[in-house]
Amino acid sequence: MIRKIAVVGAGTMGHGIAEVAALSGFEVALIDVSWDFLNRAKERITDSLNKLAEKKQINDPNAVLQKIEFNTSYDIAKDADFAIEAVPEKLELKKTVFKTLDSVMGSHAILATNTSSIPISDIAEATGRKQKVIGMHFFNPPVIMKLVEVIPSKYTDQDTVDKTVELAKKMNKIPVSLKYEIPGFVSNRIFIRLLQEACREVEDKEATIEEVDSTARNKLKLPMGLFELADYVGLDVVVDIWNVLTTRGTPDVKCSMFKAKVEEKNLGVKSGKGFYAYPAPGKYAKVQLPDSSKVDPSRLISLAVNEASWMVENGIVSAKDVDTVMIYGFNFPKGLMEMADEVGLDNILRNLEDIYSKGYQAYKPTNLIKSLVSEGKTGKNKGEGFHKY
Ligand code: CAA
Repeated sequence: MIRKIAVVGAGTMGHGIAEVAALSGFEVALIDVSWDFLNRAKERITDSLNKLAEKKQINDPNAVLQKIEFNTSYDIAKDADFAIEAVPEKLELKKTVFKTLDSVMGSHAILATNTSSIPISDIAEATGRKQKVIGMHFFNPPVIMKLVEVIPSKYTDQDTVDKTVELAKKMNKIPVSLKYEIPGFVSNRIFIRLLQEACREVEDKEATIEEVDSTARNKLKLPMGLFELADYVGLDVVVDIWNVLTTRGTPDVKCSMFKAKVEEKNLGVKSGKGFYAYPAPGKYAKVQLPDSSKVDPSRLISLAVNEASWMVENGIVSAKDVDTVMIYGFNFPKGLMEMADEVGLDNILRNLEDIYSKGYQAYKPTNLIKSLVSEGKTGKNKGEGFHKY
């Protein structure tokens, strides 16, 4: 029975995860290295709880806040039953955190990481309970986004997976479990593929940044443009995930814009400037975009759909799971596979073949897409594509 949750790291994700845990009735221990970070987290949680109270989603923000204990010492994690780590994406740092959690927490406790890019097995090896270490990947902002990806490492046992899925549900989240760990999980493999095609279109002078984002927002009806979303997530985070995917074997799509922004220290919303300018560092406001654009939505999603179909073909998740990830992790109005079925898999295939013929290896169409198209299952208007209608 999980009663108390320790959250390590009080930054963008950690403070939100602690808030979600407290909102769903758990006792929470929030730990970070300095009181500056903890005080800032307390302010952000208070602001967010006040927003929820204004909207009558909760009655007593103070009662929720009281459930969270803040400290720089791991002593407050001693009696916790579950830990979620959300410190910066540095393996050595995460290993130190896990070693410490392993030494202070009871042997029954599960240790989860919110990493989006570091191999979970590598983190688990820092502990004496590798089978009880798991990935529990939340989305920004954690209070709003419903998805949690649950990722077993090569050591994780089934009981740990089951308990993590159950906890995610108790935290009012929608869990999607991967069959086994792949770099970037489902969410970030798709996210990076969307950004890669967006970047390719701009760098190959097919479109401007604003035109790409206009199609994303106005035609695909995504809540943000793709460059806008990259700014929101943080361009340093995006580049880290991108590098992890390519160094761990995913064919790259050459693109210099993202790395250049990071080198200029324009990191997106957090620094006040990325592909767009924001009112102040850390303050997001919707960007202005043209109403119409020549960018073809089926071209823009083609590489992401190819990636998703590779995951389906390899049994990592189902087409339905891919859709759940995009709807609840990125607030897409509908799933990516459903979008592909709507624009037509024949159109997706045509775009993939066209871009592949220009020398971009990553666009090599999967056997799954090719066979669906050759069987005439090209999507919604044929009654079948990735889904049946
Ligand atoms: N606490 C409480 N409420 C909050 C909040 C918070 N922290 N943040 C936003 N809200 C509320 C607002 O009060 C507002 O409520 P009402 O509609 O009732 O007024 C609502 O959420 C929408 O917020 P805004 O009006 O400020 O702005 P918006 O309509 O542009 O929505 C957004 C903002 C919800 C972030 C939306 O743009 C969105 O869904 N964007 C996509 C976000 C996304 O894809 N996240 C995933 C990133 S990838 C990731 O996280 C994983 C990784 O590993 C990189």
